[in-house]
Amino acid sequence: MLSKNLVGKLNDQINLEFFSSNLYLQMAAWCVSQGLRGSALFLGKHAGEEMMHMRKFFDYVNETGNLAVLGKIEAPSADYPSLGDLFVLVLEHERTVTGKINALVDVALQEKDFATFNFLQWFVSEQHEEEALVGEIVGMVKLVGGEGQGLYLLDREIASIAARPPGGNPADAAG
Ligand code: FEO
Repeated sequence: MLSKNLVGKLNDQINLEFFSSNLYLQMAAWCVSQGLRGSALFLGKHAGEEMMHMRKFFDYVNETGNLAVLGKIEAPSADYPSLGDLFVLVLEHERTVTGKINALVDVALQEKDFATFNFLQWFVSEQHEEEALVGEIVGMVKLVGGEGQGLYLLDREIASIAARPPGGNPADAAG
């Protein structure tokens, strides 16, 4: 049985995943406004994944006989100085999410809630993958630059990353 403390923290996570989805969808809109179709594709796809994460937490809370509660979601920023800055923000956001997942794992262990600990393991792996993927893009921005022809090449490369099958992240094989 989930403690009240864990139910509260899992509900907070539902909200954070919702926010992540809105953030990436808003970023995708900004990319479209800048003619960056490849990046818009990547971010739009990612927004869908975040909704799936939200749903996993939502279903878990309900399945354990508790009430999933949807809270107020902050509006994401709609403007970004550049594509490079945008992806640095994505990486920072994913690191924040990883910190929250780790904190949840920590509480589950402290409370000897092994079912929740087990449920969270999928998210531990997912965060590793997401950080590696976005880290790869931030690295590419540094290599090719985020202006002129570099920006065009970068956007095309991000489109090809968006087209990778699930689990098709080369960083996984390297790790
Ligand atoms: Fe649901 Fe990108 O973390």
